[in-house]
Amino acid sequence: MTVPCPVRHYEVQDLTGLRFDPFLADLLNDEPVARVRLPHGDGDTWVVTRYHDVKFVTSDPRFSRAAVPGASFSKMTRHAVPLDQAVSFADPPEHARIRGVVGKAFAKSTVDGLRPEAEQRVHDLIDAMVRDGAPGELVRRVTSPFPVAMIGTVLGVPPEDWPLTVDWAQTVLSVARDQQAADRAVAAKAAVGAYFRDLAAQRRAEPRDDLLTTLVSAQDEGIINEAEMLALTVLLQSNGWHAVRNNSSMMVYTLLTHPRLWDRLRAEPAAAPRVVEELLRFIPHKSGLGQPRIATEDVEVGGVLVRAGEAVYVSYLTANRDERVFPDPERIDIDRPDVPHLAFGYGPHYCMAPALARMESEVLLTALVRRLPELRLAVPVEQVPWPTGCLIRGPVELPVTW
Ligand code: HEM
Repeated sequence: MTVPCPVRHYEVQDLTGLRFDPFLADLLNDEPVARVRLPHGDGDTWVVTRYHDVKFVTSDPRFSRAAVPGASFSKMTRHAVPLDQAVSFADPPEHARIRGVVGKAFAKSTVDGLRPEAEQRVHDLIDAMVRDGAPGELVRRVTSPFPVAMIGTVLGVPPEDWPLTVDWAQTVLSVARDQQAADRAVAAKAAVGAYFRDLAAQRRAEPRDDLLTTLVSAQDEGIINEAEMLALTVLLQSNGWHAVRNNSSMMVYTLLTHPRLWDRLRAEPAAAPRVVEELLRFIPHKSGLGQPRIATEDVEVGGVLVRAGEAVYVSYLTANRDERVFPDPERIDIDRPDVPHLAFGYGPHYCMAPALARMESEVLLTALVRRLPELRLAVPVEQVPWPTGCLIRGPVELPVTW
């Protein structure tokens, strides 16, 4: 068993473009199971960066998520991002009980049925942008409204409220570097919870054919309690928009800054699923680290002893750049024979809607390459604006012409 090096201090930076976090890259290369101090919370924590170690920590039941709320550990943000009763903080078997309520809604077979609607929505959004003439701003016109419409429709959120849910998600999913930002995030979390409590009451009074009605019924049948129902609804609404808005904007940015890749997709639109998989692997989706897990007993990880009660973070980003699994990991190669990436996580907390995310990305890229084959950035690449203090990376805007 090796003795770990001294504690490293990690303050997440605002990175632009596709730049990989240099701190995490160093850990992957030099110290794959490291002691790290984050800016908030207490003490130090473990950060695990290699592919196989990440899979081990995320699937071994001795690492608990249920132990996270209330535990004291080193944190990236001042505020707690998910609601305490969120599925993110449940362990099996409770975890499966909660997830089971929405499993069918995000199964591949259900999502396949949503594809025609997704195609129609993307084409309508592209039509509207084209009608207004080049240049256009792709995030505001297409990559943001598209996923909010999809998840809003699945859940049953009225279209007039979609902008509100977007604002809340944006505010909650932030690093919140000062106390005011943290207070805003806490207030937004309360507001979105209250909003869905009201909407749930409406569905109880007048059921509809939507996922919110399914969630309310599960609560009424005693499968989940109200706090679990609300936390899950909020998570689905916010991730359903925010994760795809950012990830698919990053995909388009990557394609437009790698013309050979764009040309390849243009020549072979049927390659869209392979492009999506390789870009899921390659794109640095998250700023810093997500939620940790707490060791419930002493466990050895990658030759290092983690003691019971200690917090462990994993990085799916570094796992996806581990050269032991992905040869030449810095290269975007859509012809990799196999891309077993961890972009959607691993283990019980594996993303709830990879089929939806994949379908939306495929539909988006296929529509763009077919409808706007000459699509390109309308500004020099260094003028593409990037946000500050975001937990998920993605351009603020993508000015484009065609
Ligand atoms: C490209 C888009 C997406 C990416 C890269 C992504 C990534 C992830 C990752 C890495 C996790 C696991 C985090 C962990 O270990 O705790 C996760 C969990 C989750 N995702 Fe996604 N996601 C995406 C889209 C979506 C969408 C569209 C939805 C909902 C409609 C969604 C809902 C969730 C939920 C509810 C969880 C928590 C699962 C649990 O804790 O059991 N995600 N996602």
